[in-house]
Amino acid sequence: MTVKSPTAFVIFGGGGDLTWRKLIPALYNLWLDKTLGDSFKVIALDLKEMDPAVYVQHLREGVDQFSRRGKAEDEPWGRFAAHLTYDKADFADAAAFSRLAGELDALDHEWGKPATRVFYLATPPSVMQLIARQLHEVKLVTDAGRARVVFEKPFGHDLDSARELDGFLGGLVDESQIYRIDHYLGKEPVQNILAFRFANTVHEPLWNRRYIDSVQITVAEQEGVGTRGGYYEHAGALRDMVQNHLLQVLCLVAMEPPVTFEADELRNKKLDVLRAIRRLTPGTVHELVERGQYGPGLVAGEKVTGYRSEPGVDPHSTTETFVALKLFVDNWRWQDVPFYLRTGKRLPVHASEVCIQFRPVPHQAFPPSAIGEMEPNRLLLRLQPREGIVMRFQAKRPGSNMRLARVETRFTYKEAFNTSEPEAYETLLLDVIVGDQTQFMRRDQVEEAWKIVMPILDYWEDQGHSDLPFYPAGTWGPEVSHFLIARDGRIWVEPDGADEDEDKG
Ligand code: BG6
Repeated sequence: MTVKSPTAFVIFGGGGDLTWRKLIPALYNLWLDKTLGDSFKVIALDLKEMDPAVYVQHLREGVDQFSRRGKAEDEPWGRFAAHLTYDKADFADAAAFSRLAGELDALDHEWGKPATRVFYLATPPSVMQLIARQLHEVKLVTDAGRARVVFEKPFGHDLDSARELDGFLGGLVDESQIYRIDHYLGKEPVQNILAFRFANTVHEPLWNRRYIDSVQITVAEQEGVGTRGGYYEHAGALRDMVQNHLLQVLCLVAMEPPVTFEADELRNKKLDVLRAIRRLTPGTVHELVERGQYGPGLVAGEKVTGYRSEPGVDPHSTTETFVALKLFVDNWRWQDVPFYLRTGKRLPVHASEVCIQFRPVPHQAFPPSAIGEMEPNRLLLRLQPREGIVMRFQAKRPGSNMRLARVETRFTYKEAFNTSEPEAYETLLLDVIVGDQTQFMRRDQVEEAWKIVMPILDYWEDQGHSDLPFYPAGTWGPEVSHFLIARDGRIWVEPDGADEDEDKG
């Protein structure tokens, strides 16, 4: 695909980590793929004074480290760099926005037609309203046809603040101009859940409470909080991961088939799932939600510190770095099927996976000697790493006796397509540029997701944090999270973090 209209891509927070790690590598790859043409400019704005040449070199180092294609080569990078500019700007200063408006008009003039204008707020939430107001004041967002504003999460800190922000933005720009990013929705295997479910006929008849026993969604990270302690202290795993990424994955697994693939149709179907999630109450939070915080431990053979010793973290912090919960989707398809969700930092592997566990056979005809460790059929949607799909089932072990063994069939992206997948940000930035909101969170979705987690936040607030359990870094979270599922006679299925093929060398 080639973007036809000229594009001005303005990044507020151009000196920050997100720009360095994600946005510029993604734009560079889109440009290398010739998706972005010559009428394309990135205007990065930030408070810091930076020499433009030093800035461009800094961005190149980001590409070298984080681009899926590896190090940038001199010649193409040199041509791409001609599309980058950096300006020092104080977001509270109206003059900076008038200058920006002038620059954007000059680009329209140079390109001979009005460009698509993307305003990307890679900034802390505290300045989002300020920037939106300034853009509005210089009339940079009045033309809904071409001006788009992108917001990074967190979108609000709770339901009230999300509503307030939505209300504020609603007074300045149209909902069709607002792109609330959840980068999980840009991941290929996450988008593939839709293809798997709705471009095939064999699974859909099984995809309901008659055949599915339970669903698990695990997003495990080996990394700790790193340098983001300041942000994470006020977020915690529930706000940082569950309110957005895990609930969005749940929506894709649980939604009804869409009638068309139009943005609002898909978002309506996902919204129906969020609305059907059984609301937690103080009594049920106590039973259905567990949390924990990592202490010191060993991750991949390396000693790591506990959360409380991370930079920017209060040494007495009670922020949760792990959360596990059980939800129900109250509708015809899913009534009484538990959805177990868990996520945490400093777990044994870096892996995200959905496990669909099917019901056990209704009658066991095989003799005990044949059965061994009989396990129910499981379908694993591997979101990362080793992206793909695995179906586990029972087979007869070769030999003169009937003995069963678990086997699996699998599809991996690597084997099937033999090409590197675009990064989530490449997909999402392209969607913004061409004006496709399908993979972005609509206002009502964000608010509904907050409604699901609010009873948990309120309960924790009321109860205090004196009973916060700790888990050693490098383990699967606090013991209580195992009881959460063991009480139901089930176990967590551990996702496989290692790349088997790479392991084999
Ligand atoms: C971000 C969270 O949204 O997702 C981070 O703020 C987390 O805390 C990250 O590390 C995980 O993303 P991924 O793509 O590495 O699974």
